[in-house]
Amino acid sequence: MNLNDALQSRRSVRRYEDRPVLREHITALLEAAESAPSAGNLRSRRYVVITRPEMRKVIAMAAFGQSQVQSAPVLVVVCADVKRSSARYGDRGSLYAIQDADAAVMCLLLAAHDMGLGACWIGAFDDLLVREALELQDGILPVAIISLGWPSESPAAAPKRHSEEMIRWIE
Ligand SMILES: Cc1cc2nc3c(=O)[nH]c(=O)nc-3n(C[C@H](O)[C@H](O)[C@H](O)COP(=O)(O)O)c2cc1C
Repeated sequence: MNLNDALQSRRSVRRYEDRPVLREHITALLEAAESAPSAGNLRSRRYVVITRPEMRKVIAMAAFGQSQVQSAPVLVVVCADVKRSSARYGDRGSLYAIQDADAAVMCLLLAAHDMGLGACWIGAFDDLLVREALELQDGILPVAIISLGWPSESPAAAPKRHSEEMIRWIE
């Protein structure tokens, strides 16, 4: 898929077919995620891939019962490795680690779209519940849950803001 087409046609997909996503597809997505830039090339991020139904249920609860988290056959929790980044960058490290994780999320979403998979970035969740459920070590911060599956909907494009509201040119 042409990159611009991919950028323009990607949507958050929240309904999925009831069929599994092969491990090789998931691995390819994680490789795409890891193509993202990172501060100092430290790659201060981690991924937790969840297909086990009981754990998906727990994470869905932590995401306030959002239906796409409950129904997705795969959840990928993308985490910032704040400890790793802060060891080099001090206070700035936590911001860099979150940015490293966010960049990876975006690459993963685009790769999923390119493969015909549907995905949604979930930011609304209880950090503590996710941390406990996944037994994340100190310094590992869950940044995003990505719900993933074969799409069973084709959502319309989300409304856009006027560019003048968002962009300031200094020429
Ligand atoms: C930081 C962040 C947090 C988000 N959290 C949620 C969420 O908790 N639940 C949800 O359904 N969508 C969530 N989204 C997806 C947005 O709702 C979606 O990207 C937006 O409506 C634009 O639609 P599009 O992705 O189809 O272009 C989140 C997106 C971002 C970037």
